[in-house]
Amino acid sequence: MSAASLYPVSPEAAAQSLTDEATYKAMYQQSVVNPDGFWREQAERIDWIKPFTRVKQTSFDDHHVDIKWFADGTLNVSANCLDRHLDTRGDEIAIIWEGDDPADHREITYRELHHEVSKFANALRGQDVHRGDVVTIYMPMVPEVAVAMLACARIGAIHSVVFGGFSPEALAGRIIDGNSKVVITADEGLRGGKKVPLKGNVDEALTNPQTRCVQKIIVVRRTGGDIRWHPHRDIWYEDLMRVAGDVCAPKEMGAEEPLFILYTSGSTGKPKGVLHTSGGYLLYAALTHERVFDYRPGEVYWCTADVGWITGHSYIIYGPLANGATTLIYEGVPNYPGVTRIARIIDKHQVNILYTAPTAIRSMMAEGPAAMEGADGSSLRLLGTVGEPINPEAWHWYYETVGKSRCPVVDTWWQTETGGILISPLPGATALKPGSATRPFFGVVPGLVDNLGNLLEGATEGNLVILDSWPGQMRSIYRDHDRFVDTYFKTFRGMYFTGDGARRDEDGYYWITGRVDDVLNVSGHRMGTAEIESAMVAHRKVAEAAVVGVPHPLKGQGIYVYVTLVAGEEPSDQLRQELQQWVRKEIGPIAVPDVIQWAPGLPKTRSGKIMRRILRKIATDEHDALGDISTLADPGVVPQLIETHNQMR
Ligand code: WTA
Repeated sequence: MSAASLYPVSPEAAAQSLTDEATYKAMYQQSVVNPDGFWREQAERIDWIKPFTRVKQTSFDDHHVDIKWFADGTLNVSANCLDRHLDTRGDEIAIIWEGDDPADHREITYRELHHEVSKFANALRGQDVHRGDVVTIYMPMVPEVAVAMLACARIGAIHSVVFGGFSPEALAGRIIDGNSKVVITADEGLRGGKKVPLKGNVDEALTNPQTRCVQKIIVVRRTGGDIRWHPHRDIWYEDLMRVAGDVCAPKEMGAEEPLFILYTSGSTGKPKGVLHTSGGYLLYAALTHERVFDYRPGEVYWCTADVGWITGHSYIIYGPLANGATTLIYEGVPNYPGVTRIARIIDKHQVNILYTAPTAIRSMMAEGPAAMEGADGSSLRLLGTVGEPINPEAWHWYYETVGKSRCPVVDTWWQTETGGILISPLPGATALKPGSATRPFFGVVPGLVDNLGNLLEGATEGNLVILDSWPGQMRSIYRDHDRFVDTYFKTFRGMYFTGDGARRDEDGYYWITGRVDDVLNVSGHRMGTAEIESAMVAHRKVAEAAVVGVPHPLKGQGIYVYVTLVAGEEPSDQLRQELQQWVRKEIGPIAVPDVIQWAPGLPKTRSGKIMRRILRKIATDEHDALGDISTLADPGVVPQLIETHNQMR
């Protein structure tokens, strides 16, 4: 590692930060040597109703995976995000909302948010929603989405937020899996000046007979656009709020009672309902938010994620609000009405901390200096990234052009499953290396293993595993604990397998190299190859499909699909478009293939397994590196696929 690519901690950052190098080392050491003592002390940042006596009760043994933290303590998550701030900072801003239209914005104080949440919690109760019921939230990025999530938490209902870009089919699947009683949505969303028919999508999802579990749809009026209305089923949010009482005692919840489920893609099967519980999750989200972003009271913090993803849950809503921070919620897209929108929002709201994804950075970078033109940017103090490996070029552009070479960049590695950040620099403690997520957070014990599960020492590369539990870890897959154990604890026994590969350098820094399983990362969105393949083969003209990820300059990875048509169907550009539309309808715009290649057959082993490795090499022009293909059932398809690929270029 050359010295030129090392960015030492500045003396000012170290002096002002909560965590300097010595503090990091001492705390990390304590956290792994004596996790009980460490987390007992950290848990003081939570307002417990009944204090816990037990701290960590966790087992990664694949015969009996069981993860419990603070199990006999009780708390209410919404009270931790709202009520306890009222005396100290009730009139400070909890949420700054910036609308899609630059003329629209709102500021909401902690007191106002508490008021809204209490009312909506009462309204939900009035609709017969109780502790343990699942509420699906399919909403745009408006303040009411925070109100809805916190109101669920207040009464002990489990929220299941579904990204507003998912199709009616994808929404229906999640509603059915969660056996959801109520859906909260908006008439329409607004993104980049375009309307998104959210209520229409819910109506369509509910035509699926298996969604009969849904009793009510609560609709926030966002655009006032025309929607269909079913008087016995649909209710306006505003009508409920008009009559709801504003006093709602927060429900006393066990630390291990569910807070939410959130669906994410894996290498096989349907999306999994990742289950997070209350006490450990909230503690971990709050502590990481404070330490990684070095959050200081009064600062304005902006995470550009959508609440439909885990980043939105932990670092727009729960972490910041538990810490009494001011969190910015942005409704729109980065380049509307123009390429300087992000810069303008930073200046308008004097944002101190910006947390975004490499794909957003690359699309700003593609504009050259234009994206920051005329921007002041002097309010910024810290920059963060998440979602995919950041290429050093994008890192440097972010650091120099957005941060004016004075703001540390925290490259945070984590997953839906981990609940919060596991590997990241701490700005006052960690010298930065562009492209490296650097070192583990408190309590996190990463390891690298070979394909047989042997732990590797020193500077090396391998499969990234985590060797012991941390409080923010997912507890199960909703109503499918066996799948949880199989997915995460069977590949390497006794270890949590992340699905990522990583390299560890001579300084002990981790460099995430990307997924080692059949999961794609497209613009920071996780997608299972199996999910896209099953959407493809659901089309009546498709016999078989195989999906691989290929490097893409803006999205990180693009989606490349090999399609075999059923006998008698002919390839055509029109059919290609039809299939792209089909995937958009089945899953959503984020899953639309970048490339569809017609394939007379697919390379398979004699036992019928598709050799994706070969397909990936063909798609990325590594035709000399195919390896041994003689063991394939039909080696003859390979030269044919190479030829078609070359013709397409
Ligand atoms: C990838 C998002 C490199 C990784 C919080 C992981 C990253 C998957 C980084 C989880 C990073 C996330 N550097 N890769 N800083 N952060 N990833 O569940 O492959 O949507 O397994 O959670 O994103 O995606 P998920």
